[in-house]
Amino acid sequence: MPPRLPFGQVRNFLQLGHRIRRMSSKPSVYVTRPDVDDSGLELLRKSCQVSTWQETSPVPRSELIREVAGKDALYCALTDKVDKEVLDAAGPQLKCVATISVGYDHIDMEECRKRGIRVGFTPDVLTDATAELTLALLLATNRRLFEANKQVYNGGWKSWAPMWMCGQGLKGSRVGLLGFGRIGQEIAARIAPFKPAEITYTTRSPRPQEAAAVNARHVDFDEMLRNSDFIVACCALTPQTKEIFNASAFQKMKSNCIFINTARGGVVDQKALYDALKTKQIQAAGLDVTTPEPLPLDDPLLKLDNVVILPHIGSADIETRKEMSRITARNILAGLANKEMEAEVKL
Ligand code: DGY
Repeated sequence: MPPRLPFGQVRNFLQLGHRIRRMSSKPSVYVTRPDVDDSGLELLRKSCQVSTWQETSPVPRSELIREVAGKDALYCALTDKVDKEVLDAAGPQLKCVATISVGYDHIDMEECRKRGIRVGFTPDVLTDATAELTLALLLATNRRLFEANKQVYNGGWKSWAPMWMCGQGLKGSRVGLLGFGRIGQEIAARIAPFKPAEITYTTRSPRPQEAAAVNARHVDFDEMLRNSDFIVACCALTPQTKEIFNASAFQKMKSNCIFINTARGGVVDQKALYDALKTKQIQAAGLDVTTPEPLPLDDPLLKLDNVVILPHIGSADIETRKEMSRITARNILAGLANKEMEAEVKL
């Protein structure tokens, strides 16, 4: 019979074993998508135990809640709502959350702050891709590209006609931007060569230095609504911007106004937008973001000719998305190592 150890000694021994195991075992990371570029996942696999949702669709909430339990880090996307319930399910060891997006309105920042959970995101890298897509969407909307393209296939193209499929050019127009962060500034820089009469922007506080580079003028929201031929939403979704484009805003817009949204669907009251487009209160809209996403196939917006809708592809440039995957991974590695993240949300 081996000698029996006193209970206290056994407990200490077990606790020591647990501590050693935690010290020597790799930190665990749950990744909510298997289809992010592998270069990011490879970085994580070098020093972490990585588990991922297996399908190329957003992870179901029940699965996220089950899988995040006990993990040290969460790699998520804008399709994952990371709220109190998810953070509770994760447990107190969760050190960081990193999202493969610049927007972080899907993460409850207050809950993260309270728990000391650090949050990484991917600004900068996607600025050019998003600005480029915004211009593509604006030009597709004002020059009616999709509407015209349909005519080629459905027999609507009978002959060249002087006023057929005419749109409204940017030259000499007034362009208003809601938001003048990195993306807004790059959108303005890309619009400037089209020779608009004026670029204006609306932000809480003016940014004269950045504005000077594109000769943009700071205006209040009301002035932007009333005077612009083009309005581009390129702001973050916050309690202040939620449904800021509502019935009253559309009423103030000029009847030739073209509204572009590459920010978040949530900045628009979509029913009010539909009414404004249907009644020609405004000319047209180009939307890369909607509520919900995807937009149901029976959504009334899809029945209108004066709207161009894209499936949230603002940053969908191959190299950009690859780098976004790596930045998200590096943010997690930094968070786990208590080091400075490449891009961290200030909580
Ligand atoms: C973001 O990053 O927030 C964009 O909406 C998608 O890349």
